[in-house]
Amino acid sequence: MFKTKLTIGLVLSATICLSLFNMVIILLSTHHRSNTVKGLRVGDNGQVELDLAGILMPGDAPTDAFLKDPIINKHDYKYIHNPSGLCQNRTINLLVGVVSTPKNFWQRKRGRRFGNADDGIIVVFILGMADSNGLQRRVNQEFKHHNDVLQSAIVETPRNLSLKTVALLKWASTHCSGAKFVLKKDDDVELEPYSILNALRRKYERFQNFIMGNSKYLVEGPIRQEVSKYYTSYAEYGEPFFPMFVHGPAYGFPMKTVEILYQVSLRTKLFWLEDVYVTGICAKRANIPVFFDIRFIYEHVGIDMI
Ligand SMILES: *[C@@H]1O[C@H](CO)[C@@H](O)[C@H](O)[C@H]1NC(C)=O
Ligand SMILES: *[C@@H]1O[C@H](CO)[C@@H](O)[C@H](O)[C@H]1NC(C)=O
Repeated sequence: MFKTKLTIGLVLSATICLSLFNMVIILLSTHHRSNTVKGLRVGDNGQVELDLAGILMPGDAPTDAFLKDPIINKHDYKYIHNPSGLCQNRTINLLVGVVSTPKNFWQRKRGRRFGNADDGIIVVFILGMADSNGLQRRVNQEFKHHNDVLQSAIVETPRNLSLKTVALLKWASTHCSGAKFVLKKDDDVELEPYSILNALRRKYERFQNFIMGNSKYLVEGPIRQEVSKYYTSYAEYGEPFFPMFVHGPAYGFPMKTVEILYQVSLRTKLFWLEDVYVTGICAKRANIPVFFDIRFIYEHVGIDMI
């Protein structure tokens, strides 16, 4: 959500947090014979996992009760470009949906290196509308050349970001439903695709429906200062805190979760902060477990490093 550089402070506080959790686990494990504590878990290799599901929805099983509710956001924006054949006739382990914007050609050029068809890692870029004919012509050429640009008739504004993520959920569940996992990421973050895939696979052994990502704080709420670029009015979101969510630059899920989240989004009032909306508000409505994993800690990469 917040496009700040990954600071040393964050690394330090994550380290301190994890060592605190370690201590808590050691303390608790002297009382419990099991290595599972609500909200915390020690993996087989001794790695501590913050199991947000335990904190978020204690005892609540995933539900599809929302399906009986009426559709209030028909996501039926026209596709300007649809790479509909991209996923056909191939095994896809990880579909990487990169949220981009028409003018970010360099970021996409770089992002393509993330993919590796031999290992079933496929990249698709999600774009809104170009604001000039010249820019659109360049996007048209790019689409013709690479066939990996999903361009939807959505105006490119920060307040429309949730729509672009929903566009990915919709496209993945209709045109790429054979993919095992989906990673949603921004076009300016750097991650290691194989460790992401391993993290998702590992979690899939115990959960077939989940969201995995990273979050800096256990509790976050809306910013009410009107001067802030993250200002959220009470009409947009009335509660003092957001549901637990993971940060937007990088999060992943199995295909089943993508399909569920798309269906929830059709029935849930939109909220402009896409990570809060998808991984918080929508996930909570379907009781989808949300996990923190250190492999999703990302770095923003400046244009100078591309
Ligand atoms: C996938 O395979 C089918 C059947 O062999 C074929 O008709 C279709 O054109 C192929 N699609 C792509 C994108 O290669
Ligand atoms: C996106 O944002 C603009 C301006 O805030 C708005 O007019 C438009 O209706 C929004 N939705 C779409 C689908 O572009």
